[in-house]
Amino acid sequence: GTQEWAAGHGKVILLGEHAVVYGRHAIAAPLPLAIRARVEDARDGTTLLIPRWGIEQRLQQQPARPGSFAQSLTLLLERLGLDRRALRIQVAPEMPRAMGLGGSAALAVAVIRALDRHCALGLDDASVCALAFECEKIAHGTPSGIDNTVATHGQALLYRRGEPATSRPLALQQPLPLVIGLSGSESLTARMVARVRQAWQQHPARYERIFDEIDVLTRHALDALQAHDLDELGELMNICQGQLNALQVSSREIEELVQLAREHGATGAKLTGGGGGGAVIALCPDGGARVARAMRDAGYQALEVSFG
Ligand code: PMV
Repeated sequence: GTQEWAAGHGKVILLGEHAVVYGRHAIAAPLPLAIRARVEDARDGTTLLIPRWGIEQRLQQQPARPGSFAQSLTLLLERLGLDRRALRIQVAPEMPRAMGLGGSAALAVAVIRALDRHCALGLDDASVCALAFECEKIAHGTPSGIDNTVATHGQALLYRRGEPATSRPLALQQPLPLVIGLSGSESLTARMVARVRQAWQQHPARYERIFDEIDVLTRHALDALQAHDLDELGELMNICQGQLNALQVSSREIEELVQLAREHGATGAKLTGGGGGGAVIALCPDGGARVARAMRDAGYQALEVSFG
């Protein structure tokens, strides 16, 4: 069964996406959904197989598309001294692709761990995390490191770029009842991160103020989390959505999901991850059934999860 497969965790960012790229804090936790991978020896050449996503690629033969996981994998195999081996790399994702749920980092971590097991490389978590960070750079240019950190350690945390991965684990009093709404269009992390960077380069002071404001919200959210004050936390999420809107990383579907959630009992709702598409999270103190139903009735997919 897939239990013996290596895993990388998906994640949700509660608050702090985008600002975290600029050194501010973010709060994230693993999802109960993971990506699993397994490696076997092959006869000739290395193949990447992700049947659920329709991917079957011979690595040494086809040139990898820039920014693709195949490109990351080519780099990984070189780094690990495995580029001359013939391997069959199988991947079984439990989560949707490109939904702002950290899928690219989870994929990298799962494959690195599967390579480590099969080839007895003796990698520790810090090395797994660092290699996954290299893959994230290929996937979206200037990652903060939050996705590969949560994907590796599978632990809720307050993250800040440059600080040791495990220095700020979060122990929640009680898990948070969240609904994840999927917009149905791909999260455009690379494009959204690039757009924010361009705007910041043109008007650094203006954008630094927005990142500072998000940082204040994130730190207040930490207090609210520790007090399990879900009204306050929801309010902070709503304001944060306003700031993400100011960064222009929202979309029509995201706005619709946010409104639906708020109308059906969520105390807060915002996009999560890169935006441009992807997913919305809604905080639902009375349970997520009503919110999830409203999202489904409007034609979206919804997942009820508990955070932390
Ligand atoms: O869309 P995701 O799940 O890859 O999350 C990206 C989070 C950002 O803050 C937008 C980028 C980053 O590297 O932290």
